[in-house]
Amino acid sequence: MLDITYLGHSAVRIKGTKTVFIDPFLSGNPKAALAPEKITAADVVVVTHDHSDHLGDAFAIAKRTGAVLVAMHETAVEAGSHGITSEGMNIGGTVEVRGVKVHMVPALHSAGKGNAAGVVVEIDGKRIYHAGDTGLTYDLKLVGEFFHPDLSFIPIGDRYTMGPASAAKAVEFIKTKKVVPIHYGTFPLIAADPEEFKRLVGAAAEVLILKPGETIRL
Ligand code: NI
Ligand code: MN
Repeated sequence: MLDITYLGHSAVRIKGTKTVFIDPFLSGNPKAALAPEKITAADVVVVTHDHSDHLGDAFAIAKRTGAVLVAMHETAVEAGSHGITSEGMNIGGTVEVRGVKVHMVPALHSAGKGNAAGVVVEIDGKRIYHAGDTGLTYDLKLVGEFFHPDLSFIPIGDRYTMGPASAAKAVEFIKTKKVVPIHYGTFPLIAADPEEFKRLVGAAAEVLILKPGETIRL
């Protein structure tokens, strides 16, 4: 049983036999549902790319909790230089840390160093896809065909990522059972409507619109 909490923007916490954070941008995030200094337990912190709204508090959380940081090679090397235990990887690879598998998959986006990526996190027999930031691309179809995610987190905010219409098309590609829209409403520039996304997805998947701080059970 997994308790999965949306922490605002693209930040997610997965609590099962292990606790995993993905893209924990909390300091400076006006929608953050959790103060980073309140986080005292984490096993793995996963970062999709080094933009500040994704890398966020990842280093600080890993440092404080002793969690292993899993990220693109360049980001992992930087974490290492700050004394953080890290596992570097790249698109196409899988890393297993503390019983949690992280598969790194393509994302169509930029990054400061290295590349942007998406991740499929495998924990307690479930597969959770976090798309990071990405545009609509046929690569998403392969993520669906190969990983069959039980739950997916998909950006819908437009401008820097897919918007509601392209994200709905992505859901068709990914064939995910459940999908949570992310990366919208944090700032005026990404003020997309999740209800529009839900309407466009229709019967293709169960759309779960979560408020920051809300938890679902998987
Ligand atoms: Ni980005
Ligand atoms: Mn972003």
